[in-house]
Amino acid sequence: MKIKQTSRKIEKFTGDMVAYFVHQRDKKKPVCPHTYIQKQIDLAHQAGDFAGKEGETFMFYPSDKKKLAASRVLVVGLGKAEESKQVNGPAPADAWRENYRKAGGKVSQGAMQAKAKKILVVIPESFILDKLEVTECLVEGLGLGAYEFKKYIKADEEGNQLQIDEILLYAEKETQAVKKGVKLGTIASLAARTARDMANEPGNVWTPSRFAEHGRMLAKKYGFACTVLSKAAMLRLKMGGVLGVNSGSDEPPKMVILEYKTAKHNPTLMLVGKGLTFDSGGISLKPPKGMEKMKFDMCGGAAVLGAMQAIGEEKPKGLNVVAIVPTTENLPGPSALKPGDIINIYGGKTVEVINTDAEGRLILADALAYGIKKFKPQAVVDLATLTGAVVIGLGHHRTGLLSNDDELAEKVLAAGYRSGEPLWQLPLGPEYSKQIKSTVADIKNVGNRAAGTITAAAFLQEFVGDVPWAHLDIAGTAYGFTEKPYIPNKGPSGIGVRTLLELVRNWK
Ligand code: BES
Ligand code: MN
Ligand code: ZN
Repeated sequence: MKIKQTSRKIEKFTGDMVAYFVHQRDKKKPVCPHTYIQKQIDLAHQAGDFAGKEGETFMFYPSDKKKLAASRVLVVGLGKAEESKQVNGPAPADAWRENYRKAGGKVSQGAMQAKAKKILVVIPESFILDKLEVTECLVEGLGLGAYEFKKYIKADEEGNQLQIDEILLYAEKETQAVKKGVKLGTIASLAARTARDMANEPGNVWTPSRFAEHGRMLAKKYGFACTVLSKAAMLRLKMGGVLGVNSGSDEPPKMVILEYKTAKHNPTLMLVGKGLTFDSGGISLKPPKGMEKMKFDMCGGAAVLGAMQAIGEEKPKGLNVVAIVPTTENLPGPSALKPGDIINIYGGKTVEVINTDAEGRLILADALAYGIKKFKPQAVVDLATLTGAVVIGLGHHRTGLLSNDDELAEKVLAAGYRSGEPLWQLPLGPEYSKQIKSTVADIKNVGNRAAGTITAAAFLQEFVGDVPWAHLDIAGTAYGFTEKPYIPNKGPSGIGVRTLLELVRNWK
């Protein structure tokens, strides 16, 4: 799918669909400067079918090809042009970024339904954002809204050929801003699409070795340094977390490390993503219902590699980025970790394993401890589908954020709102850390039922020391995230990729 800027007259566009946006007005019909389209809006409005509300659409088929040569026009409502403020929510500008993403998603959905392959999207005038941002967000929504994963549906070979293949973004003026917006939006949406692809792959395909292969591919394509720690290397380094979790599986574990290097004196941001390619729970086996979803337990790792793809495309200046994905399966094989076992995390801390299903924190502990020792980052952000408790607490609408540094937490929260991936912060503190004290080891991997998301983060906190660190618990948002026109309700959302990218873009 190609996405490009154009300023060629829309009347002459001979493709399959023109997408046109209009605002709703108080008890009045929506208006637009295009007289032919306005006539159709008037008709739809009179019929009571269209008021320009957010998400409302109607399609018409131009009969006068001199006025509009395209086969069809999709008119999409943007809602009222006003700054609405949501309680505990994004600022108006960020809310409008999200509106444009959703509008872009609507267009892709409409185009896919109509099997339109070539479409022209007329960039609307915004009362609040500049052309660059409007274009950027529309393109994100267009790219993500057009996402499908059908490679294993053999019967759908025809369907596979019917995808949108060209999207033109039209604006008469400000072509440079539009070009830049297309570029930013395309990079972000492609990176999040890649993360969705990885997550959609089943556990028997997307193994730790595939994670490693993908890391090597990115390194080659973008010039990153890539190190893949094998099981033997982990044994040498005494990474008892990953090795312990891996011990019930036949698939070898990997620790995939990518380094985007600019200058030595620049600060280093370290990204860590949980890459559990299938979580059965191990000996503390999960109940069967919904267990197939545990192939998504690698979405943190997917987000980190997705973000590295975008970083490779964008090559931001002024910072270094290290990405680490500890990856393994969690299976109950004959040498699997058992409740009561005591293991050594990298660096020597001992952990009493109370529940083998609390495995994410064990593999992340190795990655955090090792990464911080080796790369001395200025800040660390980890993403993990870590706890069911975060789904109880925040539902599927917000990612849980826990941090030992208020400044970093603020940055992450802002990046989340800006990218339409909202987070909500939960506290850390000694009273929570106390819940994971063990009587036979330094700590145990489970507290009790109370504050499960916080005690999981408190466990990770043991391995980051004083380094500013933010933990994103994406268990509720990595799949089944709030349904939006650019995010499918079923399947992985690609969450985290765009938040990380936003964080990197605005890193000072
Ligand atoms: N991968 C799960 C967390 C999860 C739950 C992700 C639901 C997505 C949806 C994690 O490894 C896990 O099993 N956590 C346990 C921890 C518990 C044993 C303390 C949980 O949340 O139940
Ligand atoms: Mn688990
Ligand atoms: Zn897990």
